Amino acid sequence: MKNPMFWVLLTGMTILLIQQGLPVHSQGESQTDSKVMDNITVRQGENVFLRCAQGDIVTHTAWLNRSSILYAGEDKWSVDPRVSLVTLNQEEFTIKIEDVDMTDEGPYICAVQTSSRPRTTSVHILVQVPPTIINLSKDIVVNEGSNVTLMCQASGKPEPSLTWKLLSPSVDLVSEDEYLDIPSISRQRAGTYECTAINDIATDVQTVEITVNYAPSVSEGRDVGVTLGQRGVLECEVDAVPKPDFEWYRDERRIFNGLDGMEIEDAGQLSKLTFLNISEADYGNYTCIAINKLGSSNASFVLYEVIEPTSSTLVQGLVGGPLMAEGSTNVLLLTSSVLEKTTSETFALPAGPGAVQDGNSGSMGTHVHTYTCLLLVTLLPFLLKF
Ligand SMILES: *[C@@H]1O[C@H](CO)[C@@H](O)[C@H](O)[C@H]1NC(C)=O
Ligand SMILES: *[C@@H]1O[C@H](CO)[C@@H](O)[C@H](O)[C@H]1NC(C)=O
Ligand SMILES: *[C@@H]1O[C@H](CO)[C@@H](O)[C@H](O)[C@H]1NC(C)=O
Ligand SMILES: *[C@@H]1O[C@H](CO)[C@@H](O)[C@H](O)[C@H]1NC(C)=O
Ligand SMILES: *[C@@H]1O[C@H](CO)[C@@H](O)[C@H](O)[C@H]1NC(C)=O
Ligand SMILES: *[C@@H]1O[C@H](CO)[C@@H](O)[C@H](O)[C@H]1NC(C)=O
Ligand SMILES: *[C@@H]1O[C@H](CO)[C@@H](O)[C@H](O)[C@H]1NC(C)=O
Repeated sequence: MKNPMFWVLLTGMTILLIQQGLPVHSQGESQTDSKVMDNITVRQGENVFLRCAQGDIVTHTAWLNRSSILYAGEDKWSVDPRVSLVTLNQEEFTIKIEDVDMTDEGPYICAVQTSSRPRTTSVHILVQVPPTIINLSKDIVVNEGSNVTLMCQASGKPEPSLTWKLLSPSVDLVSEDEYLDIPSISRQRAGTYECTAINDIATDVQTVEITVNYAPSVSEGRDVGVTLGQRGVLECEVDAVPKPDFEWYRDERRIFNGLDGMEIEDAGQLSKLTFLNISEADYGNYTCIAINKLGSSNASFVLYEVIEPTSSTLVQGLVGGPLMAEGSTNVLLLTSSVLEKTTSETFALPAGPGAVQDGNSGSMGTHVHTYTCLLLVTLLPFLLKF
């Protein structure tokens, strides 16, 4: 069955083919017909069929992977279970390779011996592999001003191309490289970075989180007016990463949660100091300090007294509804109390009915004008009475 001469020829020829690479135009031409088929491109994991035309006069035939014989006729030489015979007849000799992998890539040769002379057909299997990100920077926490480099490496065939971008807040493409350099990182550059590996077949995407730490900065303190016996709240707002700890002070004295009818409530970037029932002694100067490992920041608040009714009632009454005679006394009282508490320079400016007449001439600020109007509206019912 096995013709020794054919195998000698086959082996010799194969070695020749391998040494010379493909395509083959060798000295063998005098004795052997060589043909190069189109490359077969197959995705990793798929099956591939290798088909070789035969002829009536074929006496021996074989499929080879590089220099190793896979099948010699219907005899399987390969030990690889993924390789199997599909068809062997007068017309064709077809084998199948299942679950193709990267290592299967390369030249495959069909060697045929006819009554006249040997013939080879070679085909190159190209394996495509979807991209996989194999090495990615870990999530990092850095201080503002640090130099940061992110890395993303991917495997795949063809070689995937890599891009980096910042997702939130979304910015256009940041880098078209496996490395992303962010010199002296700012807090605005904190966020989720996305690495995309893409080739002809597929895409792989992974993300990295950069946290940028910075010292707190507390927004400016605001003075707050509250009526005796009411609830009062001082709010301390801060911008800081990591989340700060808050401390509240009355002048130099530290305030603790739950003591003296005060509650301190911290929620991330905000701390609230709540007075459940304001007493005379509560009016004064309060300081909020926000602290994290990078520093601290403070703001002061003056809690001052406002006489009933509350200032929101005042504004509604003046802006919205008509003033009733009996309510006027009360409103007038309040207005004067607001005036006392308002900075003196505002009220050093001329006010009263006379001033309102030329109030539109423009030299006075809107504030002054508003207060003057309030005063006028407040006084109006009285003026009308007399
Ligand atoms: C087949 O693939 C090989 C290796 O990638 C390449 O050198 C050759 O040019 C390809 N031949 C054809 C016909 O595409
Ligand atoms: C082809 O040969 C290569 C290199 O020896 C081997 O890694 C691969 O598994 C072989 N493939 C088949 C289908 O025989
Ligand atoms: C990932 O990259 C780092 C830095 O270049 C290297 O030290 C490490 O060996 C790589 N890991 C893998 C799995 O390639
Ligand atoms: C960041 O890189 C710049 C330029 O290479 C260098 O001058 C600077 O010292 C680096 N900063 C830090 C914090 O390493
Ligand atoms: C607030 O305190 C005053 C004086 O101690 C008391 O008379 C009043 O009932 C308190 N109000 C509330 C709502 O607890
Ligand atoms: C409140 O206290 C802070 C800190 O002690 C001080 O800097 C600020 O001037 C005080 N404000 C007023 C209005 O007294
Ligand atoms: C408050 O901040 C100022 C600078 O903004 C600083 O001089 C002062 O010492 C701080 N006060 C406290 C009590 O931390």
